[in-house]
Amino acid sequence: DIFGKERKNSSGINIDIASQWTPFNTQVSRFMTKQWQGGAIINGEAPSTGRVIEIKCPYRLSSIVGHVTWTDEAGVETAIESAYSAFEQWYKTPVEARARYLEKMADLIEANTPELVALCHREAGKIIQDSIDEIREAVDFCRYYAHQARVHFATPLVMPGPTGESNELYFQGRGVFACISPWNFPLAIFIGQVAAALVAGNTVIAKPAEQTTLIASLAVNLLHEAGIPKDVVQLLAGEGSVVGNAITQDDRIAGVAFTGSTATALRINRNLAARSGAIAPLIAETGGQNAMIVDSTALPEQVIKDVVESAFKSAGQRCSALRVLYIQKDVAPRMIALLKGAMAELSLGDPSLHATDVGPVIDSNAKNMLLDHIENMRKNAMVIYETNMPASLKKEHFVAPIAFKIENMSQLEKEHFGPILHVITYEASELDQVIKQINDSGYGLTLGIHTRNETTARYIDSKVRVGNVYINRNQIGAAVGVQPFGGQGLSGTGPKAGGPRYLFRFATERTRTINT
Ligand code: SER
Repeated sequence: DIFGKERKNSSGINIDIASQWTPFNTQVSRFMTKQWQGGAIINGEAPSTGRVIEIKCPYRLSSIVGHVTWTDEAGVETAIESAYSAFEQWYKTPVEARARYLEKMADLIEANTPELVALCHREAGKIIQDSIDEIREAVDFCRYYAHQARVHFATPLVMPGPTGESNELYFQGRGVFACISPWNFPLAIFIGQVAAALVAGNTVIAKPAEQTTLIASLAVNLLHEAGIPKDVVQLLAGEGSVVGNAITQDDRIAGVAFTGSTATALRINRNLAARSGAIAPLIAETGGQNAMIVDSTALPEQVIKDVVESAFKSAGQRCSALRVLYIQKDVAPRMIALLKGAMAELSLGDPSLHATDVGPVIDSNAKNMLLDHIENMRKNAMVIYETNMPASLKKEHFVAPIAFKIENMSQLEKEHFGPILHVITYEASELDQVIKQINDSGYGLTLGIHTRNETTARYIDSKVRVGNVYINRNQIGAAVGVQPFGGQGLSGTGPKAGGPRYLFRFATERTRTINT
């Protein structure tokens, strides 16, 4: 136990972890009672008209986090038209200048970390550590995409040609990019999409999830403070079915980056296809029916740690989260006993306490959908374990981690975005059927493999159609520039956020030939 002990580094500075944490904690707590105002930011201004929505803290519904003004039709029109006109100047802004804006944004996010941590925690209900990780990921996206733009966008590629002819290939922004982001990573994914679109030379219409508009508003103010012209990034607020729908039906939108549900991605695809404007690409990152396969050679303690993190961290509200755990029958009794023990240790509750492992789900809709699924499963499957939920949490948006034993993945008609794990046991001879079930789900985001048999790992890896495979570790928390992230099939159109080729998908390529 290193807490409470004084340790000094070579310069005599106290590096005791508790004493480092305390000042930061104090800075965060200054914002714990703040009430924020947010909503659309159109040409740098917050519109004065529109419906005002109260944002409640998901883990303490009596506490108001702030108010958001939703954008009306006129606001949507002004924002799109301004972003459309702003493209003329923005795409000619040198790549180096655009990269520097992102680096300045990264500095500003770091400088405002305590407020962003507090807001992320209170608006999205994330535990403090998840909120800190979220802010770091946003910084990483800004710096990483700035670097990638310099590498790939700054200098045209010289192509071969006959004597007397010069040929160059280079990237250019496409136009106005719509960035539609989810509530589960309300800063990281929001900023990741916007930063990529901007540095690739596009102007942006950003539409965050209606549950987490406050942190997006703060972020857009920081983008403007970083020097990005006010007409280049426009923020809209409101329901996806209204504002998101209006944006993706608009002919002036040249591309869409969307992270959220599969159903919404399909709807956006239909909207884009029905327009008479430019044929616009859709970068979609959606959900998953993510599985983990555990064979009899796997290390039990490591498996259980990784299962619990993958299934229940962030209350299971990650698109990467584990939903279906396949355990080889020979080791299932032992693994399941360990799983029960680990789930009994999970602490569910107030996410502002450092001892809390699992916080709330985002809202009453999410809670009710998860509870409906749990009720259904109770009728058709055996409960392996359900973590204890203190009675005081029942009226807030909490769902206790629960694990069910099921027979086949086809019992799950869709993804359930919360702390619900489904366990299936299989015989060694049934591995191909397991792989088939996973592929037949149509989703293809993450897959975990736990085995000490390298041949098995390689075999599964070669057969499963998913975007991210994690062998002998957890399957969440893809790091920017380390595990480029994104799925296939029902899980998305494939581009890898935080990867070296992500920016290409936001740009158009041009060839210039000069007869010299
Ligand atoms: N990128 C996140 C993760 O890997 C999910 O969106 O957990």
